[in-house]
Amino acid sequence: MSYTDILLGLQWGDEGKGKIVDVLSHSYSVVARFQGGPNAGHTIHFDGKKFVLHTIPSGIFREECQNVVGNGVVIDPVRFEHEISNLRSAGYQPEHNLRISLRAHLILPTHRLLDAASEKAKGKEKIGSTLRGIGPTYMDKTGRNGIRVGDIFQADFEKKYQKLKIKHFDIARSLQSDPFIDPKEEDDFFTSLDNLRTLKCENTEYFLNQIQIQGKNILAEGAQGSLLDIEFGTYPFVTSSNTTAAGACNGLGISPRRINKVMGIFKAYTTRVGSGPFPTELLDLTGQKIRDQGAEYGSTTGRPRRCGWLDLVALNYAVMINGVTNLMMMKSDVLSGFDSLQLCTSYQHHNSNTSEMPMNLSEVRPIYTSMPGWNQDLTIMTHSNQLPTELFDYIHFIESFTSTPISLVSVGPGRQQTLFL
Ligand code: GDP
Ligand code: IMO
Ligand code: MG
Repeated sequence: MSYTDILLGLQWGDEGKGKIVDVLSHSYSVVARFQGGPNAGHTIHFDGKKFVLHTIPSGIFREECQNVVGNGVVIDPVRFEHEISNLRSAGYQPEHNLRISLRAHLILPTHRLLDAASEKAKGKEKIGSTLRGIGPTYMDKTGRNGIRVGDIFQADFEKKYQKLKIKHFDIARSLQSDPFIDPKEEDDFFTSLDNLRTLKCENTEYFLNQIQIQGKNILAEGAQGSLLDIEFGTYPFVTSSNTTAAGACNGLGISPRRINKVMGIFKAYTTRVGSGPFPTELLDLTGQKIRDQGAEYGSTTGRPRRCGWLDLVALNYAVMINGVTNLMMMKSDVLSGFDSLQLCTSYQHHNSNTSEMPMNLSEVRPIYTSMPGWNQDLTIMTHSNQLPTELFDYIHFIESFTSTPISLVSVGPGRQQTLFL
C-alpha cells in the first residue's frame, strides 16, 4: 500500500527541513509543498554547492522525483521565475519535474504593498513579517477575493487583477500608506506570468491521488514551523497558514487515511526570526555564541535569528498536535563547546508550575534542567557510534520527555553529515 509521509518543522521555522527533504527524496516518487510561499527559505548543500529554495520543493535536484507546488501554497510569480532561472543556470531543468496546482493563490505586487502597510501601521506590535505578501494573500483567499494560478489562463484575468488592485489601494489608504506600485514591478509581474503559463499547471490533487493508486510514495514538505501555525502557534506572531500535519491534507488534496509517518524536525536548541514570545531566548553571550556557531542568519531575509535553549514544553506540544511518529534533531554540531546545556522542562505560569503550553506564551518563565555538554567536533563524524556519550544522554532525555524516538541526528549542513540512529 502506498503512503504519504509528512516532514515538518516543530519550532519557529528554519529547523533544516530543506536539507532533510533533499536527503530523503530518493525514497519518494514525489515531493510536495503544501503551504506557505516565498516567506520560506530552505537551504540545501551538496557537491560544494548551496541552493536556497523558497517555493519550489526540495526534491527538485533529483530528476526522477516529481515536485508539486500544492493548492495550499501561495505563489509570487516573479520570485518563482527567479528560482527557476537560478536552477536553470546551475544546469537543472525544473520544467521537467515540477507541477503547479491551478488552485494555488497568486501573490500580487499589491499584496506586498499591503504587507508593508500593515506592518507599518502596527508599529511596535509588528509581526516581523518577511514582507513577501503572505498574510494579505491568505486574507484574500479566505475572504474569497483571491486570484488563483488557473485564473491566468482565463480571458478575464486582467479585469480581475485591476479590480483587486483598486481594492488593495483603498486598503493601503486606510492604513495611511501610499496606494502606489512601481510600473516596473507591475511589468515584471505580467512578464513572469508568461513564464508560469509555460509550466505544468494542473489539478495536482488528481496527479497525487493517481500516484498513490500506482503504489508510489509521496513526501509532503512543510514550511515554517508548528509554533508559527495560524491555529496553534504564538498568535498573533504567526504566519497565515496551517503549518501543522493537517495542513498537508488540505494543502494537497490527500486524505488523512493516506498519511503514514509524521517526521518532526527540530534544532538541538531554539531559534526564532521576527517578533513574538520566546521563553528560552538568550540575550547574552551564550545566545551570541549559538548564533555564531550556528550561522543563525535568515535564509530569506538575512536577519539575525534570535537564539536560545531547547524548549521541551513547546516541543512536546508540537509533537502532540502533529502526531509526530519520529523526531529528527538538527544542528547538533552547533552545541559543541558548552560546559553545560539547559533544557526547559516546565514553565512558571501565574505562580504555578506547568508543562502545558498556555494560550499566551509571553506570560511564562522557563524552568530548566541542566545537562553536561561535550567538546568533540561532530561535523567530521560519519557514524552514530562515534557520537559523544553526553550527546546520547541529551538524545535519550528528549526521547523520554517526548515519548518519541529520535531517528536522525544532523551534524552539519551537507548531505553526508546525516547520521541515522
Ligand atoms: P529550513 O527553512 O527548515 O529548510 O532551514 P534553513 O535552510 O532556513 O536553515 C537551516 C540552516 O542550517 C541552513 O543554513 C542549513 O544549511 C543549515 N543546517 C542544516 N542542518 C545543519 C546541521 O546539522 N548543522 C549545521 N551546522 N548547519 C545545518
Ligand atoms: P522556513 O520555511 C522562519 C516568520 C517571520 C515572521 C512570521 C510571519 O524557512 O522555515 P510572514 O512573512 O509569514 O507573514 O511572517 O513568520 N517566518 C519564518 N521564520 N522560517 C520561515 O520559513 C518563516 N516564514 C515566516 O519571520 O516572524
Ligand atoms: Mg528557512
